[in-house]
Amino acid sequence: MLEVDRLTKRFGGLVAVDNVTFSIGEGELVGIIGPNGAGKTTLFNLVTGFLQPDAGRVRFLGRDITGWAPHRVARLGLVRTFQLVRPFQNLSVLDNVKAAALVKVPSLAEAEDLAWELLEDTGLSRYAHLEARSLPVGLRKRMEIARALAVRPRMLMLDEALAGLNPTELAETLGLLERLHSRGLTLILIEHIMAVIMRLCRRVIVLHQGRKIADGPPEQVGHDPNVIEAYLGEEFVA
Ligand SMILES: Nc1ncnc2c1ncn2[C@@H]1O[C@H](COP(=O)(O)OP(=O)(O)OP(=O)(O)O)[C@@H](O)[C@H]1O
Ligand SMILES: [Mg+2]
Repeated sequence: MLEVDRLTKRFGGLVAVDNVTFSIGEGELVGIIGPNGAGKTTLFNLVTGFLQPDAGRVRFLGRDITGWAPHRVARLGLVRTFQLVRPFQNLSVLDNVKAAALVKVPSLAEAEDLAWELLEDTGLSRYAHLEARSLPVGLRKRMEIARALAVRPRMLMLDEALAGLNPTELAETLGLLERLHSRGLTLILIEHIMAVIMRLCRRVIVLHQGRKIADGPPEQVGHDPNVIEAYLGEEFVA
């Protein structure tokens, strides 16, 4: 479904993403891990058109999407969320999701129906009329998932959607991701919490200093000497 081929991005002398190759099949749920600064977010930016690669190609659903603008990538069905959530702060939760829905449906009434459906689905309907700014960060991240779903993606890339959640919110969002996956949505998640990776993912890709250093089942990756070394000095429990 997604093929990333020798993708490279430099910022001055720093190679943030270094010759990274992998592919993701339909229906997979893949975790991407790596220490801070490993290049995870940059990789998402390259794949979804928010940054242009210096080298390498990206193919999605058989089409070469390298260099496409983010909205075109999204329209093809590849949508991402952001590590730092930037909603329309003054709009209600409902209106934030409605605005995203307008990308896909032609009328305000239909956008409102779709928004309510997504708020139900993501467990946010009771916050529908709150201003986005007043949501705690965990729920703001869930609102971002609802906004991403409004575009009806085939593949969703989540950048630390589970960071900063309290245990109840975490359990709810995990349940949501499992539900979305069981309905056929392909998911790639950047995640720091190993317990989450172990529970959700059959496959983990590890980045370190821009390079892919491991790719496989979490149990295997957790015992990989290169991975253990990359995480030296950081918390890493497989
Ligand atoms: N726009 C930019 N300009 C210059 N350097 C950048 C830019 N974006 C990222 N970098 C650098 O590229 C490297 C990779 O950053 P990136 O944000 O992709 O890491 P990450 O794996 O997502 O880290 P984290 O876990 O902290 O979110 C870092 O050294 C970062 O400082
Ligand atoms: Mg990041």
